[in-house]
Amino acid sequence: MEAIWLPDEIKCIVRGKPYEENNIGMSDSQVFMFEDMVLKIQAASEEADNEARVSRWLKDRIPVPRIAAYCTAGKRAYCLMSRIYGKMLCDEVYMTNPQKLLDIVTQALQMLWSVDISDCPCDNSLSVKLAMAGHNVENGKVDLDNVEPETFGENGFSSPAELLRWLENNRPEEDSAFSHGDFCLPNLFADKDKVTGFIDLGKMGIADRWQDIALCYRSLKHNFEGKYNGGKLYEGYYPEMLFEKLGVKPDWEKLKYYILLDELF
Ligand SMILES: Nc1ncnc2c1ncn2[C@@H]1O[C@H](COP(=O)(O)OP(=O)(O)O)[C@@H](O)[C@H]1O
Ligand SMILES: [Mg+2]
Repeated sequence: MEAIWLPDEIKCIVRGKPYEENNIGMSDSQVFMFEDMVLKIQAASEEADNEARVSRWLKDRIPVPRIAAYCTAGKRAYCLMSRIYGKMLCDEVYMTNPQKLLDIVTQALQMLWSVDISDCPCDNSLSVKLAMAGHNVENGKVDLDNVEPETFGENGFSSPAELLRWLENNRPEEDSAFSHGDFCLPNLFADKDKVTGFIDLGKMGIADRWQDIALCYRSLKHNFEGKYNGGKLYEGYYPEMLFEKLGVKPDWEKLKYYILLDELF
């Protein structure tokens, strides 16, 4: 890691160890994979702090990386954590077995909802999310290249600011639970048919349980429609199958709401 400047408390742990850079994530973070550790370097932010805070709080509750060191220096945040074993749910093994994929995402959501939130220090409820969304809109941080095709334009919203206003005026009542906040396949790990860990925890905390159901639904939809594998369709598989597995009646208003909210992050 000699080519990259690192704070001393991290350097002394990783010095001389072999690593590979990982380019899977969609954010501007840099991720370096060591044999049994991962170093994530990202812009210092409330989200980066939250990732370290919630991992520490969750210790022994549900499987998440253990934090070996976390610090900020200049405008960057450095998080050295344990490496979760298993494969991401976007791996071929699961992509070619949609039934198993559905079983595992259901298991993952149920694990999250089993967490007692009474002393959870991380709040990602709607008031907090809308304030952050407002900050993103004001500072031009909305990535318009990474949105659902129908969100903006002809039959959609004219701008992120208009979407934000709509979200503020149409707040649903929240059904609070422990939430991942960015529930998509590359942020979940499994081994065979068991969840082995959750990663990318910047948005984790108390939120409406439909926050995760909505992004899980969107992720399954994209995958079953072949968005990430050159258009290969999963015939006979639909994202709606998730509701039956979970035993919940789809709340289409909330699904739409939380998918729209995520466009501003
Ligand atoms: N603790 C970890 N264990 C295993 N893989 C990890 C870990 N942290 C990150 N990764 C890998 O790096 C990728 C990007 O990290 P992530 O925290 O999801 O950042 P981003 O915000 O860029 O999505 C993940 O999809 C995963 O492949
Ligand atoms: Mg990620």
